[in-house]
Amino acid sequence: MFTLFTAAAGCGASGKPEGQRFTPAPASSERATPPLVPEAATPTVAEHMRDHFTQAIRARDAIIRGDLAAMKEPAGWLADHKVSETLPDTWKPHVGDMQNAARLAVQANDLAVAADAIGAMGTACGGCHTALGTPLQFSGKSPEGQESSVLDRMLRHQWAAERMWEGLIGPSEVAWSAGVAALQEAPLHPEMLADNKSPPQEVVDLANKIHTLGQRGKTTQEPDARAKLYGEYVSACDSCHSRLGVRLKPRS
Ligand code: HEC
Ligand code: HEC
Repeated sequence: MFTLFTAAAGCGASGKPEGQRFTPAPASSERATPPLVPEAATPTVAEHMRDHFTQAIRARDAIIRGDLAAMKEPAGWLADHKVSETLPDTWKPHVGDMQNAARLAVQANDLAVAADAIGAMGTACGGCHTALGTPLQFSGKSPEGQESSVLDRMLRHQWAAERMWEGLIGPSEVAWSAGVAALQEAPLHPEMLADNKSPPQEVVDLANKIHTLGQRGKTTQEPDARAKLYGEYVSACDSCHSRLGVRLKPRS
């Protein structure tokens, strides 16, 4: 087993490119000054972060598939991962936030609660990157083409969920904006979803809700509020799919 951030004591600037133009206003406790990331530690931290990234994506995708059971293993890894004692004090609250959120996800018996926790975890990732002056950069670049079929629109929603996630963990304003914009660019018309038959009321409500989330998302700035909105969005995927008998396969 890895020890998290073992080589993290020491000092020096990180070689990371400067962050994005926009950074959500940090909470006052986070007002630590720019890069506190020791140069010597960089390979370890970066490697470690890639593990976090992968596990967090596994957890997030399981939520989108509506597979609570499959979410627990990666979320458990994130919750229980050993934290090095040598971790600088300024980092610790962020690790704690991330682990607490991951633990709430592990304990959740309900998809909406789990989705909310995964959103909070994403925001905790972003909170640390902001505080340490190492925000991640994402392009938010839109794919080409039009969304005509239901499937095309769904792939666009999958894309939107990924951008919004990047918006949380970066934190990245560019990615967040691109993601929420797609919610309205690929509207879900209820009759289209139910093969032109009259769709169940629940599906109509969900389609409307997604549209509203897209609108709200544009003006939602605060990281915790974005996390909640993200959670609402990704728990709607399975609410609708299970109602219509759609099953997403795990991505290979
Ligand atoms: C305790 C602080 C902290 C927390 C919590 C944290 N990160 Fe990081 N993260 C960092 C630092 C510092 C870097 C910069 C490492 C470097 O490149 O030197 C980083 C870099 C990254 C990178 C880029 C790695 C690379 O290849 O350069 C990714 C991806 C990442 N974090 C994802 C995540 C995700 C996902 C989470 C939450 C599950 C998370 N991080 C939580 C501090 C944190
Ligand atoms: C209001 C209903 C509704 C919501 C909300 C919804 N979907 Fe769908 N989804 C559908 C329907 C209907 C299909 C079946 C489309 C088809 O096969 O033509 C589908 C199919 C899919 C597929 C293709 C499945 C396959 O392999 O055939 C993906 C991927 C997908 N949705 C992703 C998502 C994601 C990600 C979200 C949430 C961010 C989401 N959907 C939210 C109704 C919905």
